[in-house]
Amino acid sequence: MTDSADQSETGPRSAASPFAGRRVVLGVSGGIAAYKAIILCRLMMDAGAHVVPVMTAAAQRFVGRATFDALASERVQTSIFGDDDPIPHTTLGQTADAVVVAPATARVIGSYAAGISDGLLTATLLATRAPVVVCPAMHTEMWEHDAVQHNIDVLHGRGVHIVVPEAGRLAGGDVGTGRLAEPSTIFASVEAVLAELPEPDPARQPPQPRRDFAGVSVTVSAGGTREAIDPVRFIGNRSSGKQGYAIATAARDRGAEVTLVTSAPLSPPEGVREVRVESAAEMEAAVTAHADADVIVMAAAVADFRPADVVAQKIKKGDADRGAEAPVIVLEHTQDILAGLGAAKPAGQVLVGFAAETADVLDNAAQKLARKNLDVMVANDVSAAGAGFAHDTNIVTILLADGTVRPLPICSKREVADAVLDTVAELRR
Ligand code: CTP
Repeated sequence: MTDSADQSETGPRSAASPFAGRRVVLGVSGGIAAYKAIILCRLMMDAGAHVVPVMTAAAQRFVGRATFDALASERVQTSIFGDDDPIPHTTLGQTADAVVVAPATARVIGSYAAGISDGLLTATLLATRAPVVVCPAMHTEMWEHDAVQHNIDVLHGRGVHIVVPEAGRLAGGDVGTGRLAEPSTIFASVEAVLAELPEPDPARQPPQPRRDFAGVSVTVSAGGTREAIDPVRFIGNRSSGKQGYAIATAARDRGAEVTLVTSAPLSPPEGVREVRVESAAEMEAAVTAHADADVIVMAAAVADFRPADVVAQKIKKGDADRGAEAPVIVLEHTQDILAGLGAAKPAGQVLVGFAAETADVLDNAAQKLARKNLDVMVANDVSAAGAGFAHDTNIVTILLADGTVRPLPICSKREVADAVLDTVAELRR
């Protein structure tokens, strides 16, 4: 969208605008008109609203979420199972001053009218007491269908504001009623709805997410590496990757551009660049390729040893009764990735390591911090209850190169991630 395109439809910009300081959830469901929601989003933001986009899966087939991510006040939400907020639909619904659905498909309208929550958008619609503006868009036959008209009547009867579709060109070249109303028309309807509301209540607004990593590049490694013995077997470790993923997610939420080099069997957080690896050698190559980041966090459990020779065919077990011997696997050292990064650390870069320890935790971690030339070492007693591999909680102590020691209480891996990033932000200042 160009600036000149924006200027063709501008909303009011004064502080007195009914949009000023209002939190508007913009629901976008699947239809060719989803692109118009981008213009609507921009108009409402220009008028001072805090716009939180919610896209259905179908909407993402028409418009990329990256567009809304870049444009709206907050990142797009798509799932009822949010990364950070366990109940995003209630949070969204309860904190909204208005919920606008544009375009609203026959399915979303039907679910909403029937009280069915089948995704984040419909769940939010059912979980809100804020005024709702529904802007249908569909083919003429669908719009005129008795079922859809009945659902519209039901919603209208419940006080939902309907911005009726216009006549014009529809998807596929057909012409008729069903086209989403123009963004300026929807804007005016939402404006009228907001103008009726009492003054904004600051206590109802959730705290704004910190954006203290905006413009900062962060490379995170996560997961345990696997070192092949033969095509079937490998040497691995117990790392789940959860702590590294929590760091990648937290850095993303705080505005960073994140690259996640991972060997963990987890889906990457949305909006994070994922580089999949398996062995320590692959992880070294991938991390080195992204070593020009402002911040590097090595949360991966990298193998220290690997089989010196990978057997090309599956090793057969033989018959022990007839004297067949178990194979002897000779190991060799892998590269210490973090030590390599520390040795070549550019000025201004913050390098963070994780020390997985089972004894003499702080001493061992401090030694590794010095030996690998790190700025921060997160000492992790992986044998403590509620800490380490596969748990959702962790118990860590953050060590700094200047000797500062910061023990954290038992907390979630996300809280550990934010505490580590707080320390990194402090060092960068
Ligand atoms: N690390 C690394 N490359 C390796 C081994 C470890 O980059 N080959 C990194 C880990 O990602 C972690 C830090 O070094 O951030 C410390 O890892 P840890 O396993 O605790 O220590 P090691 O240096 O491997 O020493 P030891 O196994 O003897 O405790």
